[in-house]
Amino acid sequence: MNDDPTVLLTPPGQEILARLAAVDDVTAGELAFAVSLRREYPANLVAVATAQHELRLAARAKFGRAMRMLFTRDGYEQASSQTIAAYRAGRFGAAQARRVADLCCGIGGDLVTLAAGPAREVVAVDRDEVHARLAVHNAGVYGGAERVRACVADVRDLRLAGVDAVFIDPARRGDAGSRRAGTRPGAATRPAGTRPAGARRFRAGVSQPPLDWCLALAERVPAVCVKAAPGLPAELIPAGWEAEFIADGRDLKEAALWSPGLATARRRATILPGGHTLAAVPGDGVPVGEPGEYLLDPNPAVTRAGLVEDLARTLGAWKIDPQIAFLAVRHDVVTPFARTLRVVESAPWNEKRFAGRLRELGVGAADLRRRGLAGDVDQIRRRLRLAGPHRATVVLTRVGDRPWGMICADPGSPLA
Ligand SMILES: C[S@@+](CC[C@H](N)C(=O)[O-])C[C@H]1O[C@@H](n2cnc3c(N)ncnc32)[C@H](O)[C@@H]1O
Repeated sequence: MNDDPTVLLTPPGQEILARLAAVDDVTAGELAFAVSLRREYPANLVAVATAQHELRLAARAKFGRAMRMLFTRDGYEQASSQTIAAYRAGRFGAAQARRVADLCCGIGGDLVTLAAGPAREVVAVDRDEVHARLAVHNAGVYGGAERVRACVADVRDLRLAGVDAVFIDPARRGDAGSRRAGTRPGAATRPAGTRPAGARRFRAGVSQPPLDWCLALAERVPAVCVKAAPGLPAELIPAGWEAEFIADGRDLKEAALWSPGLATARRRATILPGGHTLAAVPGDGVPVGEPGEYLLDPNPAVTRAGLVEDLARTLGAWKIDPQIAFLAVRHDVVTPFARTLRVVESAPWNEKRFAGRLRELGVGAADLRRRGLAGDVDQIRRRLRLAGPHRATVVLTRVGDRPWGMICADPGSPLA
């Protein structure tokens, strides 16, 4: 099959895509409709269009205009979602850059929003020729193509003259950045032993170009943002940079690393689509005490950014254990940075006793949240033998040195 979906920009390609657009449930190869299309158009073109249509349907989860965009499978999988890209591009606006470079642009998930921003020109670079072409097409779908200059190159060969700001989203291990591209021997890596073991493991072959190279861009360009995996060890974040952990709802998506020219905090947690953002809140240590009437389960972005105590300070909450990222509060607080749960039962963990109590309460479905305790959640769930009409969250954790359990409900739930 032809790997290049730009063949679909030809009149017959457009016709097939337009006819497929009416089909919402498509399985490539099995579609009866495709059989009839094959009588009218070359089989190869129909196959490319059918595969593209499937990708577009899936890509609606990431892009509002997915049905007009073009994707490769790996380009789609690696692409930033429009929500996150738009948020980052908004922050990028602060750089007041005239000329922005989107390095490793892929199919243009980020480009579509960068090109819609205030920069006069966005230089989009990828060493995958198909991705570079799709990026321009997709920027056009969002009305920004005339400001995009695409370039097929290895980003490490660029001089970046006249570029004020760079966004880079390197390919991660397993990404198709390696689809056609060979790995350049001798790519910049630090000698082994100069960083902690966790950091070395994270770095080894994980991103292409390597993280060190991406971070060093700040020595050449005033404003840089590097998209990284949220598991990035803290010791890899250079002094003066900001690590922003971004979640879409409760789904932790990425770490955006902002160079000193754009940094506004050392660490930050941002929750989309609302754009709620939390940075360090200076103050006294957070007290530790018994679980209260309500339990706060911080958003993973807050936990990952190491801002649980900062959140506690803003809400007057306390910790239930010095090491555990659950917080307790007296009242039903509403915050974008945590899920608030009403505590129905709180006691040292005893599986039999909790199983009995859950049956008394009529809990037939439970979300098991384990933090600080060992144990296989699925096995525990089976042994609890849940039955009844209600839902609950069962928290398995530690309070002091003791295994602790809590049966919790959403604040409005009838569970009593
Ligand atoms: C994670 S994807 C980028 C996704 C993009 N930000 C988006 O939202 O669509 C990484 C891209 O980096 C490209 N790439 C990897 N190494 C590169 C290099 N040394 N020079 C240029 N492009 C590279 C790959 O071809 C791939 O398209």
